[in-house]
Amino acid sequence: MSATSTTATRPDARARIDAVADPGSFIEFGSTARHQTTAFGLDAKRPDGDGVVTGTVGIDGRTVGLFAQDPTALGGSLGPVHAQKIAMVMDRAARARTPVIGLLDSGGARIQEGIASLDGYGKIFFRNVRASGRIPQISVVLGPCAGGAVYSPALTDIVIMARDRAHMFVTGPRVVKAVTFEDVSLGDLGGADVHSTTSGVAHLVADDTDDALALARQVLGYLPSSAWDDLPLAPPRPPSGTAAVPDDHRQPYDVRDVIRGVVDADSVLELSAGHARNLVTAFARIDGSPVGVVANQPSVLAGCLDIAASEKGARFVRMCDAFGLPLVVLVDVPGFLPGTGQESSGIIRKGAKLLYAFAEATVPRVSVILRKAFGGAYIVMNSREIGADAVFSWPGAEIAVMGAEGAVDVLHRKAIAADPSSRAQLVEDYRAQAMRPDRPAEILSVDEIIDPADTRSVVAGTLAALRGAIEPGFRHDNLPQ
Ligand code: HXC
Repeated sequence: MSATSTTATRPDARARIDAVADPGSFIEFGSTARHQTTAFGLDAKRPDGDGVVTGTVGIDGRTVGLFAQDPTALGGSLGPVHAQKIAMVMDRAARARTPVIGLLDSGGARIQEGIASLDGYGKIFFRNVRASGRIPQISVVLGPCAGGAVYSPALTDIVIMARDRAHMFVTGPRVVKAVTFEDVSLGDLGGADVHSTTSGVAHLVADDTDDALALARQVLGYLPSSAWDDLPLAPPRPPSGTAAVPDDHRQPYDVRDVIRGVVDADSVLELSAGHARNLVTAFARIDGSPVGVVANQPSVLAGCLDIAASEKGARFVRMCDAFGLPLVVLVDVPGFLPGTGQESSGIIRKGAKLLYAFAEATVPRVSVILRKAFGGAYIVMNSREIGADAVFSWPGAEIAVMGAEGAVDVLHRKAIAADPSSRAQLVEDYRAQAMRPDRPAEILSVDEIIDPADTRSVVAGTLAALRGAIEPGFRHDNLPQ
C-alpha cells in the first residue's frame, strides 16, 4: 500500500501504518471486529475493524503496539468495540513492555452507541494512566480530536500534531459560540499553532501526516521500550559547535548554540519549542546515548523561570526520569519572574513542580552553571542539595542569593541614600566578594570550575561514570502538569 498522504485524498489508516512501520512488520488483530448496534440505522454501517486498525509494528526493529483510527470508516468515531480494540493494544503493550503509538483522527464518541462510547474512552484513559511511566506512549494527532477524546493524548508522554489537519479541543466552535457568543475558527481554537505555543498541549508539530509519522519514529529513538529496558544507542558523534556565552552578563544569547556545543552533532530534538521558550527542553545524545537537556534561555524573559516554564520543565524532567534518560542541565537564570501576575497565578505552587521533579529524579543528573544562578532559581535548577550528581561552573559565572544591584540596595540602603554615588563601588565589591564561583566550589556546592571548552568532555565523562546509577524498573508515572 502506498505510504503517501495528502490532505486532499485523506489517507486511510493502513496507509499511515505503512508510513510509520518498518516494511512488512505490521501484524494486525481485530480486522473483522464490528459493532453490534442496530439503533439509528447503524446496522447498515458495519465496516470491518469498526473504524480503527490495531496491531503491532516494528520501528527500527523494535516492537511497538499501534492503533490507527480510520476517518474513512464511520468517521473514525469511537464506540465500544473500537475502544476495546485500542484497550487490547494497550494491554498487550503493557504486558510485553513495549511502547504504544496512537494515530488519532476521529469524530469522537460514536453518538449512536451512547454511553457505551463514553465508557470506551474511560477504558482508554484508565489504561493510559496505568501504563504511564512504564511504557512510552506517543500520540500522533492527524485529524480532529474533539470532546473528552483529547484527554487520551494529554495523558500520554508525547503529543505530535500535523499542522495541515489536526485540531484538538474540548468544545468545538459551535458550542463555544452558543455558550460564550465568541466566533472562533477551528484553527484558532485548537490548531497545531495554538497547542504548540500558547497551551503547550503539543510537544511537536509537523507540516503534514508524513512528517508527523517520521517524528514519531524519531522520538522513539530516544526512549527505551519500557522503564525496564536499556536506552537505545546510536553511533557517537562529536558536537557540531563550541560551548560559549557572551562576556557581557546582560547580553542575550541563544542557549541552543551552547547545547549544540555539548551534545552529539545533529542529535537535538527540542520539545515544546514554541511554548514557555524561556526554558529549553530537548532530547539529545552524548556519546550515542540519549539524554534529556534542560536549559534556561537567556534570549526569552532573560531566562527567568515562570509558571509555564516550571510546568513544562517538570513534565520533561519526570518523563526523562521515568524512562532512565540522564539529565544535563545548563543553568543561566536570574531568578523567578517577579510580579503580581505570576504570584497570583500560583508561581509558588507551580514553580514547586520543577523543584519536585528534579529532587525526585534518580537518573544521573549533571548541571553546568554557564553565567549566573541566583536565589531560588539556583536551587531549583538541579543544584547540589536537591540531588545533582555533579555541578560544574564556568569561571566567570555569578552564583549568589540575588543579583548585585538588588543585594546592595538591601544591605546598604542607608549608605546609598546618604551618598548615591557610592552604589557603583558597592556593587563592584559585592560582585567580587559574593558572586564568584570559587566560593561555592570551596563548600562543594560546585564540584569543579571548568573551562567552557572542556564542557563536553567533562559532562560526557561524568555521565559515563554514572551509567550504573540508571536502575531499570518502574520509577514513577508521568503525571500531566
Ligand atoms: C457518529 C460520526 C461522528 C460521531 C462523524 N461521524 N463523527 N458518527 N459519531 N461522533 C460520521 C458522520 O456522520 C459521517 O457519516 C462520517 O462520520 C464522516 O463525517 P463527516 O462529517 O462527513 O466528515 P468531515 O466533514 O470530514 O468532518 C469530520 C468531523 C465532523 C469534523 C469530525 O464529522 C464532526 O464534527 N463530528 C463531530 C465531532 C464532535 O463534536 N465530537 C464530539 C462527540 S462527543 P456518513 O455516514 O455520513 O459518512 C465526545 C465526547 C467524548 O467525543 C467524551 C470522552 C470522555
